[in-house]
Amino acid sequence: MINWENNAVNQSEKDRILIDSMANKIEQKPDEIKDELVRRVKVEDKRIINGGTDVNQLVPFKYKWAWEKYLSGCANHWMPQEINMSRDIALWKSSDGLTEDERRLVKRNLGFFVTADSLAANNIVLGTYRHITAPECRQYLLRQAFEEAIHTHAYQYIVESLGLDESEIFNAYHEIPSIRDKDEFLIPFIDTLTNPNFKTGTQDGDQQLLRSLIVFSCLMEGLFFYVGFVQILALGRQNKMTGSAEQYQYILRDESMHCNFGIDLVNTIKLENPDLWTNQFKEEIVSIFHEAVSLEYRYAEDTMPRGVLGLNSSMFKTYLRFIANRRAQQIGLPKLFDCEENPFPWMAEMVDLKKEKNFFETRVIDYQVGGALQWD
Ligand SMILES: [Fe+2]
Ligand SMILES: [Fe+2]
Repeated sequence: MINWENNAVNQSEKDRILIDSMANKIEQKPDEIKDELVRRVKVEDKRIINGGTDVNQLVPFKYKWAWEKYLSGCANHWMPQEINMSRDIALWKSSDGLTEDERRLVKRNLGFFVTADSLAANNIVLGTYRHITAPECRQYLLRQAFEEAIHTHAYQYIVESLGLDESEIFNAYHEIPSIRDKDEFLIPFIDTLTNPNFKTGTQDGDQQLLRSLIVFSCLMEGLFFYVGFVQILALGRQNKMTGSAEQYQYILRDESMHCNFGIDLVNTIKLENPDLWTNQFKEEIVSIFHEAVSLEYRYAEDTMPRGVLGLNSSMFKTYLRFIANRRAQQIGLPKLFDCEENPFPWMAEMVDLKKEKNFFETRVIDYQVGGALQWD
């Protein structure tokens, strides 16, 4: 395995040996060669934002958590069309297969997700990526962007498999207020990063970037997706829509890593730029969290007006508070709500596909590709 600490510590020693050996070989003055080496990327000079090192050089590694998540993302690769959807199609077409409330839930659920992952992809490709100056983090973002494309593909594949009205589902984010409100909440934070005139390098600019990263990782990927995930996975647990549930289970695994990567990114930016984390900034983030929780709760009420599948919107009130507390604590904020319990403890198992392999029995077991190099 790579020894990360030695890698960093030994860098200047390696540079010195290289200077000596090059100087001996080509009879140049060591000082001139040293000037050349000054331009080489050094671990200690790398920064997540506002870094001055060459972003085209992946190594020497500094942010091992980013590289490891990139490797895990690749090992978890999957494609939507590998999942058997025939049972879902038969159930959806049968007149007594699902209740009206269950059908509404599926359609409203897809109505949010079919565009949400395009928003996420655009936010990475057109926004976040160019403001991040650590190449190992950029490498993960490239992988993440492709995973968002796979997710959009998966939702489209479900819509197509079930023969749903595509224009109804894909326009839901304009036409269904509870979905539109979530997207309208997100768009200003995306616009900040995708604005070609936006730059980091001032406290205000860096705080704007940090705010958008927090909204994306903690609130979009870490909160706005979770009512939808619980709903479809709850259907799967009742042996309904098991192909769709399998797709969502793979998406949940990916999103869980996106969320964790985003939180690592936020916490490292905080460490490298402690002046950004002011009391006023923290208060502002807390109020953004509260707004997101109420929007997601409204979406839960709208998708389940009468309670369905043993789920009801008040269970989601508790669940959203539980998740919001967790996200807040993960970025160093205090708990936002007075609640401890998770009404859906089974969701934790859903993230780990290796333990729960072939949960819905719709596909081959233990799907992982790729392997990790052993360095020792
Ligand atoms: Fe996604
Ligand atoms: Fe994501």
